[in-house]
Amino acid sequence: MKCLVIGSGGREHAISKKLTASPLVEAVYCAPGNAGMKKDGIRLVDLVETDHEGLIEFARSEGITWTFVGPEIPLLNGIVDDFQAAGLAIFGPTKAAALIEGSKSFAKDLMTRQGIPTAESQTFTSFDEAREYIEAKGAPIVIKADGLAAGKGVVVAETLEVAVAAASEMLENDRFGVSGQRIVVEEFLSGEEFSLLAFVRDTEVYPMVISQDHKRAYDGDQGPNTGGMGAYTPVPQIPQAMVDQAVEGVLKPAVRGMKDIGRSFTGILYAGLIATPDGPKVIEFNARFGDPETQVVLPRLKSDLAEIIDRLLTGKSVELTWETEGYHLGVVVAAEGYPENYQKGALLPDFSADREVSVYYAGVKEQEKELVAAGGRIYLVEASGQTIEEAQEKIYSVLKVKNTDHTFYRRDIGSKALVQK
Ligand code: AMP
Ligand code: GLY
Repeated sequence: MKCLVIGSGGREHAISKKLTASPLVEAVYCAPGNAGMKKDGIRLVDLVETDHEGLIEFARSEGITWTFVGPEIPLLNGIVDDFQAAGLAIFGPTKAAALIEGSKSFAKDLMTRQGIPTAESQTFTSFDEAREYIEAKGAPIVIKADGLAAGKGVVVAETLEVAVAAASEMLENDRFGVSGQRIVVEEFLSGEEFSLLAFVRDTEVYPMVISQDHKRAYDGDQGPNTGGMGAYTPVPQIPQAMVDQAVEGVLKPAVRGMKDIGRSFTGILYAGLIATPDGPKVIEFNARFGDPETQVVLPRLKSDLAEIIDRLLTGKSVELTWETEGYHLGVVVAAEGYPENYQKGALLPDFSADREVSVYYAGVKEQEKELVAAGGRIYLVEASGQTIEEAQEKIYSVLKVKNTDHTFYRRDIGSKALVQK
């Protein structure tokens, strides 16, 4: 098989690397990919993820067996519909199905219809009505831009002032453009977060192992929300019964509900959940793999990823096997200033002699044969261990001796699991 992966982040590096490990795969291409991927034998294609025509032309001329879509933007732009219309195999939800991620109010309506547990909420386009609701509900309360905002359109407000200001920014000042012209105001849920992802074909759900992301920029969950600063799997403080409840009570009714309204979902479905005393509750759905969750979840997958995707695309049944021992942990190294304004151009350290860790590249580019920082999240260092402490030790001991000037990383990835043990 020849596989094409669309996207350029650490997630796409992890997906592509897993595909190259398959004996069924002759070549893996990533469009546009990033220069850091080349060390793992991934071939870069100089086409951006929004260039559907160019990508279709490439897939055709190169004889690509199937294409895998990493990020949400091409999905919501209808890349799957366009490939299918061109008679090409592609794995991911159609534009109609990707709306489960593209509109929070759409996802809320789906959950209400299907009886899926989630935070109580209401949707607004009028600031005055939103303010009235916020004042009636009280803080803490959560304000969310309805559309895509790269993980930054959510404000967890501790006070009424912050909540009202966030609603005003989105509805009155167009802070997130069209994405924020409609907002969802949501009950604050407290509890441990976890990410449950599944391979989905229509109404068939094949759950993956759970993981936990770290959304805040700084140690101790301080600072602004980011795309994710690190992740680990498994998450021992979340009992298996909670996971089973989420598969039965969230994932399965969600895909059934999508089919019922003519938006059948095939692809990766991601449920962001909070473990509450009343069971798991949904805080978001994504229509794709998570970043950085993928960089720790896929290394635990013992089955052949290329074979899984191929079988899903050809109507065959799928079985997933996972490593059952130990932990995988990943720590993101980000540019100073991320998620706000950040500097580019920092030289990246060389990890080629560090056998205990794997590095997944994201915001990087090549400059005179060296990798330099070119994005907010630059790379992720991943390791496994019998215990979380062992995996942490492997990663942090390597990072400590590298030149990480002008970058930062959290020192407490995975530590929530230790406190609760
Ligand atoms: P989202 O982009 O919807 O995943 O939200 C970003 C982050 O905000 C989540 O990972 C949570 O940490 C937090 N969050 C979102 N919704 C809620 C909620 N209803 N209650 C508490 N925290 C939330
Ligand atoms: N790590 C969260 C996300 O991918 O949306």
